[in-house]
Amino acid sequence: MLNPEQVRQDFPIFERRKGIIYLDNAATTHKPRQVIEAVRHFYEEINANVHRGVHTLSQEASKAFEEAHEIVAKFIGSRDWRSVSFTRNATESLNIFANSVAEKYLREGDEVVVTVMEHNSSILPWVRIAKLRGIKLRVVGINADHTLNYDELGEVVTTRTKVIAVTHVSNVLGTLNDVRRIVKEASQVGALVVLDAAQSAPHMPINVRELGVDALAFSGHKMLGPTGIGVLYLRPDLAEELPPPIMGGGMVKEVRLSNCSVTYEVADPPWKFEAGTANIAGSIGLAAAVQYLTKLGMNNVRSHSMQLAEHAVRRLREVLEDRVVIYGPKDPSLRIGIVSFNINGVNPHIIASILDSEGIAVRSGFHCAQHLHQVLGAHEGSVRASFYIYNTEDDVEALASTLKRGVDELVRSGVLR
Ligand code: ALA
Repeated sequence: MLNPEQVRQDFPIFERRKGIIYLDNAATTHKPRQVIEAVRHFYEEINANVHRGVHTLSQEASKAFEEAHEIVAKFIGSRDWRSVSFTRNATESLNIFANSVAEKYLREGDEVVVTVMEHNSSILPWVRIAKLRGIKLRVVGINADHTLNYDELGEVVTTRTKVIAVTHVSNVLGTLNDVRRIVKEASQVGALVVLDAAQSAPHMPINVRELGVDALAFSGHKMLGPTGIGVLYLRPDLAEELPPPIMGGGMVKEVRLSNCSVTYEVADPPWKFEAGTANIAGSIGLAAAVQYLTKLGMNNVRSHSMQLAEHAVRRLREVLEDRVVIYGPKDPSLRIGIVSFNINGVNPHIIASILDSEGIAVRSGFHCAQHLHQVLGAHEGSVRASFYIYNTEDDVEALASTLKRGVDELVRSGVLR
């Protein structure tokens, strides 16, 4: 079991900003001392560029950077550390994958399947490619209980499908998708599956081999790591085959000039997908975050996130009754760490401001998924509470009671009836 009170002791921000109730973890999480210390140690005692020097500091930096790849690969169940490339964030990882796959495999008339649950980062790279390359985008919808419509997926996936791009956990609904089922559909037609794990990797054990996905992306900052560091996992043989869509230093073995033309030989993975100086300190911070989470136990992290979300759904319903609309699956085992909602007749930003005035941080708006809000009929967006390892049941109680007081006040002042 995870003890959030004990976990909180590791996070300096809760010491400095006493009283803050932070429920915006799907946007970014706070950082424990262990991560801050790992980054500080790198800058104070190692700092050098990697793979670009024979000097001692560069060698030490390169070793720490390579170890960070190994630690992250192990965390997601990959046996090959070269399957992990560091990027800026999940967005960049998904763009690299989409551009590279489009260049290598996609032809006019091919189809890419996405879902209506996707974050902009998982849908827009394909919208752009579809426009540029004459590829058709097929969008799978959701059921009334806000789970993925697997029947529709079965109908939409055909021999024309070359890629299925899907989120593991919706950043609005919290819905956990059945990846094995999606991979099974894809394998029947030989399509690739790329998983947006930005909201799942922080909260649950991930094993890329068990999931059977071809590619997976996530960000460090949503799982205790620094901002500006992300991960692109590629199935090892695919990583060999795919071309790098970003060119520059560090991603080539050799560049030759002959007869006024320039030729080059691409480096091996993971370096071919890491052009330019990487966020070296960020990768070391991410490795420290992964070690911190591994020590807590990812099964414990998942149980905690699920319990808090379930508790929040129950309490919001109890205190707000039919004033509240809660999005996401009814089955709590299908919801990970996220509860988005609306209070009928009140703009979500007003609710977020009321909560903020009591020290409670939530996100309001469309959460980079306006298309999904359109489907939900939530035309002004939603309020999203998202939980993590340092949140307690008291935080959920504070959310519920503050909302209740806020709504009572809106009724008293005549804004709500
Ligand atoms: N993608 C992040 C979110 O859902 C920022 O809030």
